[in-house]
Amino acid sequence: MQDNAFKPAPDGLAQAVSLLLEGASLPVASLPDHLPETGIGETDTLRMLAPNIVGAAAALGEETAFAHMDPPTPWVTWATTLWNAALNQNLLHPATSPAAKDIERRVIDWLKPHFSMDGGHMTPGATIANLTALWAARDVAGARRVMASEHAHVSVKKSAHLLGLRYEGIAVDGRGRLDRHALPSELRDTCLVLTAGTTSTGAIDAVTPTTGAAWTHVDAAWGGGLALSDAYTSRLEGLAQADSVAISAHKWLFQPKESALVLFRDTARAETALAFEGGYLATPNIGVLGSHGATAVPLLATLMAWGRQGMAERIDRCMRTAERVHTFLARQTEAVIYAEPESGVIAWRLGDDARTRRVFDALPDGMASTTTLDGLHWIRHVAANPNTDAERVTNAIAEAIRSTTQ
Ligand SMILES: Cc1ncc(COP(=O)(O)O)c(C=O)c1O
Repeated sequence: MQDNAFKPAPDGLAQAVSLLLEGASLPVASLPDHLPETGIGETDTLRMLAPNIVGAAAALGEETAFAHMDPPTPWVTWATTLWNAALNQNLLHPATSPAAKDIERRVIDWLKPHFSMDGGHMTPGATIANLTALWAARDVAGARRVMASEHAHVSVKKSAHLLGLRYEGIAVDGRGRLDRHALPSELRDTCLVLTAGTTSTGAIDAVTPTTGAAWTHVDAAWGGGLALSDAYTSRLEGLAQADSVAISAHKWLFQPKESALVLFRDTARAETALAFEGGYLATPNIGVLGSHGATAVPLLATLMAWGRQGMAERIDRCMRTAERVHTFLARQTEAVIYAEPESGVIAWRLGDDARTRRVFDALPDGMASTTTLDGLHWIRHVAANPNTDAERVTNAIAEAIRSTTQ
């Protein structure tokens, strides 16, 4: 006899979609403090959870959302994520992912030329992608030390720590990019990590072939989307010189979490370190993860639905929004802007920390985040949301500055 809980329930799934659209307006129910002994059934569970989950979620696709590297996701990814949950394929084994494995290979094949790489695999985030790349750098190229700019993401330092590699932060220039002049001349034992879109300011470190590093990794967790853009792809010039690239698809490729890629210039070489055999495995296990799902399916669906041009158009729209807000801020006599928004991130502040905090507090929720740079407090915006209305943002900033002047 088939257990109904595992059978398709069209009414229940239709209810789930209605609750996604309307659940925020239902009264919030308190959830059980302890593991319930008896269940209340799927329908009541969804109804009870909707206001707590849907109603309490950050609204990442609102016209005023302009704060974080977390985009709204297109509905085609909701549908394919539902398929993924229902099918529960495991890419560790060909037998449990006959089609999904091919989908991942296809997505990698589509994307890799845009990053001048020859292969790679998906990971649940750029944290794991960075870890994987540094692991290859250590075991394939003999790197013993990791160097990255002082503005590099914490995952780079964390990965170095996990891998037993020495970590050294390198000074940044006046625009927040790794300062080439601060690099030592001898890098033969070093994995140099360049960031394409730093977390705090969006700066893009230049990729040049001249460093002599044992391995060059580009952390394009945020800025990687620019590789598919029409207008801004040249900002990632030089990627072909890198040995590996990390890209968070759940940032600027508009994917549900957890979706990212690690790509290699010479994948076969990298996989000499990353592939492990096991008696129960039909094919080698490559990378950090064991069991993992078909996150490539929503990404493939998005790329099919939009094409490269549709992806580029949305990324370029985000960039134009950042440029408009930057132009507005540049006209505010009191505002200090960290640098031009190279990859859609803007960091700015007012004369002193207390005033900057007051202006931040006066901005609508979800419009800005904060970051600390050089010991100072900065307001930060991230153009991850193609729906952001630049005018609503600039009006709100003008009002926040005005209201805190008195
Ligand atoms: C530059 C950079 N690298 C790496 C990461 C880590 O990526 P993920 O959150 O996908 O693990 C981030 C996250 O914000 C980032 O901004």
